[in-house]
Amino acid sequence: MSERTLILVKPDGVERGLIGQILSRFESKGYTIEKLKMLQPTKELLAQHYAEHEGKPFYQSLVDFMVSGPVVAAVLSGERVIEGVRSMLGTSDPTLAAPGTIRGDLGRDWGDSVQKNLVHASDSPASAEREIALWLA
Ligand code: PPS
Repeated sequence: MSERTLILVKPDGVERGLIGQILSRFESKGYTIEKLKMLQPTKELLAQHYAEHEGKPFYQSLVDFMVSGPVVAAVLSGERVIEGVRSMLGTSDPTLAAPGTIRGDLGRDWGDSVQKNLVHASDSPASAEREIALWLA
């Protein structure tokens, strides 16, 4: 059964001119871009989006990074798209992400202690519906 997920090309992906490459990988894999928007997120939107991480040591640097520039939000659809896209991203730390993944091929540590890992993707059906409602209702 087809499902939906939300992806965000983070400010580092936008600044580095990687929007096209990143979206192209999802299209080449066979997923459909249902909705697409570039926007400057507010701290309020990010606080809702990252509510589950509030209180964690990286929370403030994550919100500061995500508000630092525009992001691209997209809804992708397809069979098992949630786990498929997470697999395509690779592990959170871009230095350790496997070659062949988006983070493994395009990302790295830039020495500023902020985890610039190019893309966010929903991690479950419940997160996907919650995040789609926040970003691209
Ligand atoms: S956890 O606790 O296992 O859920 O953490 P993790 O999945 O590794 O990371 C959750 C999100 O926080 C981001 N993160 C950071 N951003 C900026 N700076 C620092 N230092 C940092 N550490 C973790 C990480 O990239 C995840 O972002 P999303 O957007 O959910 O992919």
